[in-house]
Amino acid sequence: MDVLLVGSGGREHAIAWKLAQSKKLGRLYIAPGNAGTERCGENVPVGAADVEKLVDFARQNSVGLVIVGPEDPLAAGLVDAMEEAGIRAFGPSAGAAQLEADKAFSKHVMRTSAISTAEGRIFDRFSDAKAYIASRDEAVVVKAAGLAKGKGVIVCDDPADGILAAEKMMCDRIFGSAGDKIIVEDKLLGEEASILAFVDGHNIYVMESSQDHKLIGDGDTGPNTGGMGAYSPAPVVTEELMNKITREILVPVVDGMNRNGTPYRGVLYVGLMITGGGPRVLEFNVRFGDPETQPILMRLKSDLLEVCLAVCEGRLDEVTLEWDRRPAVCVVMASGGYPGDYEKGKTITGLDEAEQLQDVVVFHAGTASKDGDIVTNGGRVLGVTALGQQIAEAKARAYEAVDKIKFDGAYWRRDIADKAIKKLTIDN
Ligand code: AMP
Ligand code: GLY
Repeated sequence: MDVLLVGSGGREHAIAWKLAQSKKLGRLYIAPGNAGTERCGENVPVGAADVEKLVDFARQNSVGLVIVGPEDPLAAGLVDAMEEAGIRAFGPSAGAAQLEADKAFSKHVMRTSAISTAEGRIFDRFSDAKAYIASRDEAVVVKAAGLAKGKGVIVCDDPADGILAAEKMMCDRIFGSAGDKIIVEDKLLGEEASILAFVDGHNIYVMESSQDHKLIGDGDTGPNTGGMGAYSPAPVVTEELMNKITREILVPVVDGMNRNGTPYRGVLYVGLMITGGGPRVLEFNVRFGDPETQPILMRLKSDLLEVCLAVCEGRLDEVTLEWDRRPAVCVVMASGGYPGDYEKGKTITGLDEAEQLQDVVVFHAGTASKDGDIVTNGGRVLGVTALGQQIAEAKARAYEAVDKIKFDGAYWRRDIADKAIKKLTIDN
């Protein structure tokens, strides 16, 4: 079967790498892809946002399945458009993608499905938001309701900062129309974890747990990013907790989406805070996480293409996933300056040496091929991912690979997976 994968990040390289191992795969097209996906299939120069051209391409090339990586084309109705054209597509409809694309909708679904989340209020007027934050006089989290490339959340320990954040979003419109409506939430304390599940409308198949590192600096400091590294599994998610998350969050949200008339199909990502009072939802994403997908798919032994087909055909109950029991760690190498301004076009060396290490895969994100070289082409550039017998070994191997890779201004966190290593040391 010929497959079209939409997107160009580290997540998409990991998906392409995994799909390329499938016996069922014929040709793999990636639109637009990066220098890494080029090695797994054929990059197609069509942007992920160009719904019409993507449908045309899929039709002209008799694509049997379209897999959509990022949230924007999902929210823009790419899956709906493919299905209208009679092409099978993996991912939620535009209606169901509101679970990520509209945080007010997401809060509504959580409330009506009795899912535990932070207390929050929705505002579409700055004066109301300001009065509310001032009256609370405690830490708040201010969130743009719309899509803001994972950067639309500002955690404010001081209410004055909260008011400033609301003003920037609603009056200065730093996130454009995404911030015309905001959510002001209570700040939750605890450890974060990401749970990803395949959902076919009714059946749910939970993947192995993972944990992201959202902030740019070591020790979780500095501004928010798309994610600077991840590991799987996350020791904070015990089997008991996983069962609770399935029972109290995944099942109710899938039911709630059906009641709402927006049945959910695709990958559902639950961003959680594991608080003293149990797991609470920070956000839902309607797709694979990036960089969580890199370590998760390194550990998946089963055929991803078969799972995606089972999701599309509503027969996920027939699927069993096999996992490598070894943990995986992914360290993101970014362009200097990210998540602020950064330069592109820096030559990357040492990729082959890094990949010669055992159980290491270097997933590309913001990379491009230029005159026979591979150059940087984005903020997050590479996701250097390794398996190890224990998480400490996976971490050491990932960093050994990172040390072999060079480009001007390369930046990476040095403490990816330390939280997991510490937790396992204390627990034992
Ligand atoms: P989100 O995009 O909603 O997941 O938010 C991005 C990040 O902001 C999360 O990964 C958390 O680190 C933080 N965050 C979001 N909501 C809250 C909250 N209610 N309390 C504490 N931190 C939060
Ligand atoms: N790693 C966070 C995300 O994919 O949104």
